[in-house]
Amino acid sequence: MSTKTLQKVSEYEKSNVNSRLRCFKRHISSQKQSFAEELSHSLSHESKFISPKFFYDKTGSELFEKICDLPEYYLTKTEIEILNHLKTELPHFLHDDFRLVELGSGSSTKTRHILDVLHETQSKTEYFPIDISDILESSSQELLSLYPRLHITGIIDTYENGLEFLKEYDSKNNLIVFLGSSFGNFSPKDGLKFLKKINSIMKDSDLFLIGLDLIKEKSILEKAYDDSEGITRQFNLNMLSRINTELDGNFDLANFAHVARYNENEKRIEMYLQSLTNQTVQIPKAKLSITLQKDELIHTENSYKFSLNDIEDMMADTSFEIKRIWFDSNKHYAMVLASKI
Ligand code: AVI
Repeated sequence: MSTKTLQKVSEYEKSNVNSRLRCFKRHISSQKQSFAEELSHSLSHESKFISPKFFYDKTGSELFEKICDLPEYYLTKTEIEILNHLKTELPHFLHDDFRLVELGSGSSTKTRHILDVLHETQSKTEYFPIDISDILESSSQELLSLYPRLHITGIIDTYENGLEFLKEYDSKNNLIVFLGSSFGNFSPKDGLKFLKKINSIMKDSDLFLIGLDLIKEKSILEKAYDDSEGITRQFNLNMLSRINTELDGNFDLANFAHVARYNENEKRIEMYLQSLTNQTVQIPKAKLSITLQKDELIHTENSYKFSLNDIEDMMADTSFEIKRIWFDSNKHYAMVLASKI
């Protein structure tokens, strides 16, 4: 480890759970804005919004897992279809040992497809999940029991800081993966910035694999975000339940509708909570009293969709060379493997 790396490591609290599982958690120094502070800005704005990062409390994360299993939410299934195919394809691009670095600790089902490839061909498999929320010890334990030569290092931090941690960590090749079209939740500007960040910490021999949702018929897109069982509706409304529980808010959930529409010009699904009546809501812990007109919208999420041209331009603009793009059989989804130019 270089002196610079050692210095970076000292910013983290290290815990060795066992000989094959350790975690680096950044010492609390963050000046992160609290939920209440962010809301006091975003809900008093003329166009009201709530950041999608607040979807993922315990209930929200469980609802998202359910969304991934819905017949209408094709994203997970198509990505798994491609990952299955990658079991035979990926080894052609891995000429040496690679460490798997995952942005977001992901569902272990997806991670396993890639671990299968690495574990089969390497004497030691290293997995570095980077996630702001504590990586569940139990899911790691499960992976350790499935893969006897696996070593896990969890980095509990933001993606940007986690990537910095990895920069110049050692000379081992990294396969950095960003799955689930989570990239689609960034604005185009932030997305490009993020790709540049990834590129800037990569060695020439590293590889980057990203899953991206493609533009398709509006009806398929809108059904994926407004399912017949109403799970996505619950996921969206859970934002308001969180505000009620955590900040003593008095949102009446029956006064809100879930709206998901595809904006063709912006190439994105937009999710909103629509006020069904004129109403005033109090959020004492955010020192907020908000007035909503009937039909007024609170914007909760954008989920961008991409064309093949968009993907090629985006990767070229951020100094990536595309090695290969794989699609599912319906061409609904793409996985792009790239290296640094
Ligand atoms: C996490 N992310 C990629 C999901 C998406 O499709 O944009 C979040 C989601 N929102 C509603 N359904 C799923």
